[in-house]
Amino acid sequence: MENKLYLYPGLIRLWHALNAVLIILLIISGLSMQYSDPLNPLFRFDLAVSVHNISGFILIFDYLLFIIGNTISKNGRHYRIQLKGLTHRLVAQFRYYTYGIFKHETAPFPVTKKMKFNPIQQVTYFMTMYVLMPIIFLTGLPMLFSGAFIRQLLGSDAFFVTDIIHITIGFLLSIFLIIHLYFCTFGAKPYSNFKSIVTGYHEGGH
Ligand code: HEM
Repeated sequence: MENKLYLYPGLIRLWHALNAVLIILLIISGLSMQYSDPLNPLFRFDLAVSVHNISGFILIFDYLLFIIGNTISKNGRHYRIQLKGLTHRLVAQFRYYTYGIFKHETAPFPVTKKMKFNPIQQVTYFMTMYVLMPIIFLTGLPMLFSGAFIRQLLGSDAFFVTDIIHITIGFLLSIFLIIHLYFCTFGAKPYSNFKSIVTGYHEGGH
């Protein structure tokens, strides 16, 4: 156990598991609503709408769990970005990901209890959790509860703009998920980080 670091407390693991399942449901139901042929849908349209609305609603509560957890526990400090020297740190991490890792160099920012995210992870996790997620909620909720109100008050264009922003952020979150899953394979073994987010213990690696 001496080589293992306890990095993912229970609340973060619970939040993350629910978050992952709900976002996958939202991506599948969202894609089904947007692209499927009405006569031959991937899933029945009304079913996709219900799954999307219910998952989105639960995700908001799960997100509040994340925000509260990060506020009351020490986990939040991992999301506080030190702007001084950030570009330099990002470049060093980028060089490692694109070159150093293949030359078996040691990671420039090894995982420690004080700093569990490397600079690229820190910036992407911050952007995802504190920028993209709030925007997707703030565009989804008005469309769910007051679509007619938005149309009446601000016109159809306002609804269209809200919808486009929502879909764009959904697209960016889907891209994040793909890249996130790929980078999670960069552990001591390809499956090590996946084990960590279930057990809480990090096993070494990048
Ligand atoms: C099948 C879906 C997913 C899997 C298998 C997965 C896997 C993992 C793993 C292995 C880690 C720990 C390694 C690391 O910190 O890089 C992690 C952490 C994290 N994941 Fe995911 N993830 C998934 C979906 C998501 C989604 C959809 C989001 C956000 C929209 C997300 C956001 C995060 C964040 C913010 C952390 C750091 C949590 C913390 O320690 O504070 N993940 N994920």
